[in-house]
Amino acid sequence: MKQPITYILAIIAMFAFFTGSVVAQTFEGRSKCSSCHKSQAKSWRDTAHAKAMQSLRPGTREEAKVKAGLDPEKDYTKDPDCVGCHVDGYEQRGGYEIKRPKRQLAAVGCESCHGAGRDYRGEHRKGGQAFERNGTTTERSRLASRGQDYEFEEACKACHLNYEGSGWEGNKPPYTPFTPEVDEKYTFKFDDMVKDTGAMHEHYKLDGAFVGEPEFKYHKEFQANAKEGEKASTDE
Ligand code: HEC
Ligand code: HEC
Ligand code: HEC
Ligand code: HEC
Repeated sequence: MKQPITYILAIIAMFAFFTGSVVAQTFEGRSKCSSCHKSQAKSWRDTAHAKAMQSLRPGTREEAKVKAGLDPEKDYTKDPDCVGCHVDGYEQRGGYEIKRPKRQLAAVGCESCHGAGRDYRGEHRKGGQAFERNGTTTERSRLASRGQDYEFEEACKACHLNYEGSGWEGNKPPYTPFTPEVDEKYTFKFDDMVKDTGAMHEHYKLDGAFVGEPEFKYHKEFQANAKEGEKASTDE
């Protein structure tokens, strides 16, 4: 009875492949997003995520490094055991490479959380223009099918819970040196942390060009408390 099941799984995998759900998305770097979303970009710049690459330099975060058994005098900015979680899309299509480092991909930027942007960002422009012109809204499912992430949780866990015994089933080396065993403050709690605007970015009011499912579970809460910011641009 083993073979028919293997066969069915192979067909499902192939179907998933051709419908795009497992096709690798391409990273482009945060400047594309930032030019249209100026308020979020400005707010993001003050976060720890924006400074993630700096923390790998010698002479930075000395106390934290010593506590985690790292050498505070060492340059870790080209170390494959470190860089992966401190940049966008490490070793993925269009993502950060140690040999050809791009500034726009250094640090934990927009695409690390929202998904690799090449295939969906054009839909933002089109959707924004349609909304501006005649109030036509676009379904979010259109963006999700092009790789925009509306759940976030798995993306966070791949960096924050990647250590042995974290309980996250995807864990594999290189692991993060900053675990709750080193200091309790490194315990990752998704529901609290995703609400920390000082770590994501401040939230700004949307006009509502995109509607429907998938909608992030705290979207309404975030929008109800959002600030007035610079309107998302619709030109390239
Ligand atoms: C050409 C300009 C443009 C670019 C480039 C762009 N966006 Fe957008 N984006 C928009 C517009 C316009 C909206 C709709 C805003 C509204 O409803 O007020 C939007 C909406 C969004 C939303 C809210 C979606 C929703 O479901 O309501 C997110 C999140 C977002 N953009 C993130 C990004 C990220 C990340 C990138 C880079 C990969 C990006 N955008 C690139 C113009 C752009
Ligand atoms: C690509 C890896 C990566 C992803 C994805 C990621 N983070 Fe982080 N996060 C980091 C790194 C690295 C730091 C530390 C940056 C520094 O201080 O240099 C950090 C810092 C933080 C902090 C700040 C902790 C403090 O001490 O202030 C919070 C909160 C946080 N992340 C929550 C999240 C949440 C929630 C998500 C998902 C929505 C997320 N992160 C996604 C790598 C990641
Ligand atoms: C599996 C992902 C991952 C790897 C690999 C990784 N880090 Fe990080 N790093 C993180 C996350 C997540 C945080 C944020 C932890 C928090 O604040 O909760 C972080 C935080 C840091 C911080 C800030 C700590 C503080 O309290 O200020 C430094 C410094 C750092 N990492 C250096 C390194 C170095 C050096 C290496 C390689 C030896 C490395 N990281 C490898 C994910 C990773
Ligand atoms: C650490 C994760 C993280 C990073 C990095 C991040 N975002 Fe977000 N972003 C979020 C979360 C979570 C939301 C809330 C989603 C929702 O309400 O549907 C959000 C919402 C948004 C929205 C919708 C409006 C708002 O303000 O809530 C836009 C636009 C956006 N982000 C753009 C960006 C841009 C541009 C960057 C890079 C400069 C970026 N984000 C970086 C996590 C992140």
